[in-house]
Amino acid sequence: MSDARRKILVTSALPYANGPIHIGHLVEYIQTDIWVRFQKLRGNDCLYVCADDAHGTPIMLRAQQEGIAPETLIDRIGMEHRADFAAFGIEFDNYHSTHSDENRECSELIYTRLRDAGHIARRTISQAFDPVKEMFLPDRFIKGTCPRCGTEEQYGDSCESCGATYSPTDLKDPVSALSGATPVQRESEHFFFQLGDFEAMLRGWIGGEASDGKHHPAIQPAIAAKLDEWFETGLQDWDISRDAPYFGFEIPDQPGKYFYVWLDAPIGYMGSFQHLCGLRDDLDFAAYWERDAAEKAGTELYHFIGKDIAYFHTLFWPAMLHGSGFRLPDAVFCHGFLTVNGQKMSKSRGTFIMARTYLDHLDPQWLRYYFATKLGNGIDDLDLNLDDFVQRVNSDLVGKVVNIASRCAGFITKRFDGRLADSLAEPELFDDFVNAGDTIAAAYEGREYGKAMREIMALADRANQYIDEKKPWVVAKQEGKEAELQAICSMGLNLYRVLVTYLKPVLPTLAEQSEAFLHCPELTWGHRDRALLGHTIRKFKALMQRVDPKATEALIDASKDDLAKRDQAAAEPKKETSMEPIAETISYDDFAKLDLRIARIAAAEHVEGADKLLKLTLDLGDETRTVFAGIKAAYDPETLVGRLTPMVANLAPRKMRFGLSEGMVLAVGPGGKELWLLSPDEGAAPGMKVK
Ligand code: 2FM
Ligand code: ZN
Repeated sequence: MSDARRKILVTSALPYANGPIHIGHLVEYIQTDIWVRFQKLRGNDCLYVCADDAHGTPIMLRAQQEGIAPETLIDRIGMEHRADFAAFGIEFDNYHSTHSDENRECSELIYTRLRDAGHIARRTISQAFDPVKEMFLPDRFIKGTCPRCGTEEQYGDSCESCGATYSPTDLKDPVSALSGATPVQRESEHFFFQLGDFEAMLRGWIGGEASDGKHHPAIQPAIAAKLDEWFETGLQDWDISRDAPYFGFEIPDQPGKYFYVWLDAPIGYMGSFQHLCGLRDDLDFAAYWERDAAEKAGTELYHFIGKDIAYFHTLFWPAMLHGSGFRLPDAVFCHGFLTVNGQKMSKSRGTFIMARTYLDHLDPQWLRYYFATKLGNGIDDLDLNLDDFVQRVNSDLVGKVVNIASRCAGFITKRFDGRLADSLAEPELFDDFVNAGDTIAAAYEGREYGKAMREIMALADRANQYIDEKKPWVVAKQEGKEAELQAICSMGLNLYRVLVTYLKPVLPTLAEQSEAFLHCPELTWGHRDRALLGHTIRKFKALMQRVDPKATEALIDASKDDLAKRDQAAAEPKKETSMEPIAETISYDDFAKLDLRIARIAAAEHVEGADKLLKLTLDLGDETRTVFAGIKAAYDPETLVGRLTPMVANLAPRKMRFGLSEGMVLAVGPGGKELWLLSPDEGAAPGMKVK
């Protein structure tokens, strides 16, 4: 296979749209982004797509808890995710959502092709059902006493105390974690994907070696060993349906039945790519996904994932693709988990670090580099040791790499008006740097970033040795040694330029700033041998700060604060929503005391000095009231004028900082922008009593 401009499609796992990105997630996105940037730097056509994983019970329940529509929740979280990724320099060609038209179409297409080819079975099964919430309960939403050791409050699948695994029906005194009710068993029909139909195909795909012209074996050896175990145990049918209520896509022609989130999640890779095809004229969906077209076009497909979701990506996903006439991934690249200071990320230790919190304290490039030094092509866990992090960044990036530029640039600017020498003082050394690019490229291609970083830092050491030996600061003081000084510093800067080219996938910002300072065309792998000669550079500015160890301490403290804030939020009473059970009853007499009337909003205006309030003048037919309402974030006052809305007319007047409030208007929603005033149907008029 020729390497001329490969066409490569790359994905990272889709993060769930119900929580923030944390540094554990970032291992994968940084790993993938480095690989994609490397491919682009080499001149390959490489596309990186991702999306939010927006469906499923936890997202549905979280939205209910917040009193908002799931669409509102996933939009909000989607925006946060995008902002976090962008801040870490993770550059997607497209970032979409699994809750999209494109994904619905792809999911329906795959499902109907699988169904029509006879790979979907239907069976009635019995499951735990919450009679209060009126929904089937996923295992993790059932709690009870461990059947083995008797520990209370254990989840439906395993015991945290003794480690036993069991099915929720084995739990003693099971209760629904949602309502506290005792679950009942209820039957319903489910749809199953018959994974076993694909065993031979899967064995062939996994066994396919890189020797057949491919760039990578489909599976890493450690994952292949895991798969052998799974084959031994036998491939089970996979339940791909869920009953309403569920936030997801309804199965075609099956009202009330939804695709299980894990069915449409990987299809989200396709959905996101389909969306990209809609944005660009030069992309053909079929050439990347349809089996024959992809083979003809020679496109490559790679998925980067965590080892915990290998089952989905190395069994279900290729089987779904193959069974529906789509191409197989060329490889699935798994990585290990992140530990911090040698231990699992921990909220109480302050090592469960959110991406946002990190950004408040430290430079994202430092983490990109540190992870790069730790990443290999296996599935071992990697450790972020904060002392080592400080030391590594300061010694490698600041002390070695940036130091080369800062040692040479000053002389070139001050003594030669920014002009570099016309020839290289040590062409062999420069050639060594250029030639090392082949080993470094092979390491990047093979996801051996740690190895690549070691090679690059060894070159940085050589560049520094060169400068140490030539001592430009001494030469600078000697009469008549101008040309020598210019030659040494030009050599140093040319070596720096090659080093930054090699680091560009990891440190895109440093590369961009260096391009600006060197005043040179965009650095590319292929042009690394084009030394800058007789060329004028710009003034050097500090390219990277040292890490202050205090900043890492502040990060840990802030992460502990994040936890405290979350705990406080959890302890606060939940905002009232229509989905929550009504806690207490009131007597009819209590209700009758309320004088609810329809009011017309005659005027609405901002209140000076008030963040949340609008001043409403309410017309009740025969009288006018002033009410201060906390709806400023949700409404532009002009849009309210003339509108009818119910108000509590007999609420005792309340003196506020801005004046007297004579009643209250009624709205629903959790607050802020998510607040909606009630409105009567047509025919109601100001002053009418609400009954
Ligand atoms: O494990 C997770 O976080 C899932 N949201 C990953 C989905 S990856 C792909 F299948 F979409
Ligand atoms: Zn137990």
